[in-house]
Amino acid sequence: MKYNFDEVIDRRGSSSLKWDTVKDGVIPLWVADMDFPCLSELREALAERAAHPFYGYHTRSPSYYQTLASWYRVQYGLPLGEECFLSGPGVVLSLSLAVQAFTRPGDGVLLFTPVYTPFYEVIRSNGRETVEVPLVLDEEGRFVFDTALLGKTLAEAKERGLSVPLAFFCSPHNPGGRVWDSADIAAFLDFAKRNGIITAADEIHGDFVYPPGKFISAASFAEHRDRVLVVSGANKSFNMGGIHVSHFVVRDEALRRTLEQVLRASARRDLDVFSELAVETVYRSGPDWLGELRNYLWENIKTAADFLNTEVPGLRAYIPQGGYLIWARAEGLIKRKNCSGDTELARRLEDEGRVKITQGSIYGKGGAGFVRINAASPRALLMEGLERIKRWAAGPENSGTI
Ligand SMILES: Cc1ncc(COP(=O)(O)O)c(C=O)c1O
Repeated sequence: MKYNFDEVIDRRGSSSLKWDTVKDGVIPLWVADMDFPCLSELREALAERAAHPFYGYHTRSPSYYQTLASWYRVQYGLPLGEECFLSGPGVVLSLSLAVQAFTRPGDGVLLFTPVYTPFYEVIRSNGRETVEVPLVLDEEGRFVFDTALLGKTLAEAKERGLSVPLAFFCSPHNPGGRVWDSADIAAFLDFAKRNGIITAADEIHGDFVYPPGKFISAASFAEHRDRVLVVSGANKSFNMGGIHVSHFVVRDEALRRTLEQVLRASARRDLDVFSELAVETVYRSGPDWLGELRNYLWENIKTAADFLNTEVPGLRAYIPQGGYLIWARAEGLIKRKNCSGDTELARRLEDEGRVKITQGSIYGKGGAGFVRINAASPRALLMEGLERIKRWAAGPENSGTI
């Protein structure tokens, strides 16, 4: 191993959302942010640029889109022309721009639930309605979608006079860790096509897919190019969520023009001096780091799920096919600890157990009774967090044990 992912570094006091919003002594296993330091080449490149005395207006490096295209070609086997890429201000904001570009106020946006909470927020805060299709959790803990239910939900929305021109498709899925295979994506895109829906695929977790799975971008489906836009970014893969940068992949010229118009209308400037450098540096220097990190995360996930399933009665952790977040059924634990639901469970785990995880109900329908645990920490830290869950679970019903 060339890289050391075991080192625990104190992140407190760095304005970290993950660490600086929890009480002292709490181990945070919540927001999707990893406790691994960024690639050294990234830190060096930014430090070197920061040492230059000018941070004036920036013009895009001619190699930027070549670097993105090369990432798609080499990492995903997807050859795309540079013209297919547009830069974005972060994935969530880009989803919001997609809502503005492809729907009108009052329209519906289709999405599978449970799902990453900001999906609801960007739809509703733009004055659009969520059209929610519940995913089904199969025996192995994999989310699947039911095409009949998808059709029924859309038909009901249309019967109420709602127009649904856009869908959000989270791939890989957060919080479920589901990696959609080619048949799943094709089935969804076919459905979308039949119903005149444009798909905005959020592929930000695409670099974390574990064998034998394979990440397949929705942009691979050339026959659907006029109805698909992908939103993704290097920020999740390389643990630089504090740098707001993402990209769109849009193969169709007309779709691209519509999106560009919205980018112009929001007076979106092109990338800034640091974010562009950050993306180029990690995409060029990062494949080995990412490969080793993926292996490390996979071991973390298996170890953590095994521990939770054997040591914490009432918790059933599912092994994700992608991402580094573990989705776990917690109904038994909620009951044993006399909690009113997953929200109280998460609150008491933080207050009494000194470990912060995420309550499933914030992900919408299908999330209640579940929790999400972030496994992207040095193994010793992660296991200490899980030991705390175990000790808290084993303690008395209503009070803290630690
Ligand atoms: C599915 C999904 N989309 C988007 C984001 C955040 O993207 P950004 O920080 O680029 O807005 C996350 C972060 O956890 C996520 O899980």
